[in-house]
Amino acid sequence: MKMTELRPVTDTAAATPAPRKPALPDAQTVTEVQHYTDRLFRFRVTRPPSFRFRAGEFVMIGLMGDNGKPLLRAYSIASPSWEDELEFYSIKVPNGPLTSRLQHIRPGDQIILRPKPVGTLVHDALLPGKRLWFFATGTGIAPFASLLREPETWEKYDQVILTHTCREVGELTYGRELIEDLRTNELYQELFGAGFEKRLHYYPTTTREESHKMGRITDLLRSGEVFEDLGLDPITPEKDRAMICGNLAFNLELKALLEDWELEEGANSDPQTYVVEKAFLD
Ligand SMILES: Cc1cc2nc3c(=O)[nH]c(=O)nc-3n(C[C@H](O)[C@H](O)[C@H](O)COP(=O)(O)OP(=O)(O)OC[C@H]3O[C@@H](n4cnc5c(N)ncnc54)[C@H](O)[C@@H]3O)c2cc1C
Ligand SMILES: NC(=O)c1ccc[n+]([C@@H]2O[C@H](COP(=O)([O-])OP(=O)(O)OC[C@H]3O[C@@H](n4cnc5c(N)ncnc54)[C@H](OP(=O)(O)O)[C@@H]3O)[C@@H](O)[C@H]2O)c1
Repeated sequence: MKMTELRPVTDTAAATPAPRKPALPDAQTVTEVQHYTDRLFRFRVTRPPSFRFRAGEFVMIGLMGDNGKPLLRAYSIASPSWEDELEFYSIKVPNGPLTSRLQHIRPGDQIILRPKPVGTLVHDALLPGKRLWFFATGTGIAPFASLLREPETWEKYDQVILTHTCREVGELTYGRELIEDLRTNELYQELFGAGFEKRLHYYPTTTREESHKMGRITDLLRSGEVFEDLGLDPITPEKDRAMICGNLAFNLELKALLEDWELEEGANSDPQTYVVEKAFLD
């Protein structure tokens, strides 16, 4: 498939305002904003032609602070590397220096986008395998939203399993809509060859509000419930690769679990069988 064929059609495309002349350093124009809950939203911005990244990486973005200096934070890029625009999925932290303001952006506004994406949740940091597990909590799903829409993911692995654990049902909406788009949008159908249902397993769970599957993914893995529910064999270092992105306690617990199953942590310079990144700093 040609990358140029992978262009999603959105309702808002026609309403997208023409980019304004940059007034900030590294300025990009907001093209779309969607709010999910009082704590979560996603937005898209223009992409500089020179901006290159690998799916799974993060970049520094922000707004100009009241002191006249850029107020920047790390954000995973949620869109795939072939799209014309960049998408981000964001928390709204009450009184958070950046997100208390960022949550009010509208199409036509400008944000700062620094030019150097980095990160460990990249294909280059993993050895070849058969199955790829994406383990996320909260906004930690963002890098996987990029990787799931990347042809390389489907060329390298037979099966991908996305688990997403949030406190409440409403916090799963971004992930649900992403999976539904992958399932139904004809742009992606070529990626799935043998069939969507066989190649992608989606396993959302909640911990504080009733849903069809409750519990922390760590507990569900330990008890074997995940494998039973999905009809999959347990994780082994021979066939499985994993990427982890969530809060610190979750990352540490899942790392320990994967290491019990003899997976080893990799890095860009030393590819192994799993990689991990914090979804935010505590
Ligand atoms: C590698 C990396 C990638 C990141 N990617 C994203 C991303 O894609 N989307 C995103 O929303 N944030 C992401 N973050 C967090 C982001 O950098 C900011 O912390 C966040 O935007 C809040 O900024 P703030 O200035 O409002 O508050 P901050 O002062 O930065 O944070 C205040 C407190 O809010 C909590 N918090 C911050 N971010 C989150 C979060 N995402 N989920 C739950 N609690 C949080 C923490 O307890 C933190 O101490 C990432 C962080 C890192 C290190
Ligand atoms: N989500 C909300 O409705 C809400 C509302 C107001 C304020 N906040 C605040 O916002 C901050 C971030 O909240 P968040 O919900 O986005 O993120 P979070 O606290 O990182 O929780 C996200 C998910 O990860 C699970 N989790 C936490 N530790 C884990 C571990 N060791 N192993 C496996 N799973 C684990 C949580 O389960 P558990 O529920 O079992 O911990 C929850 O389902 C917190 O400081 C919180 O107090 C959140």
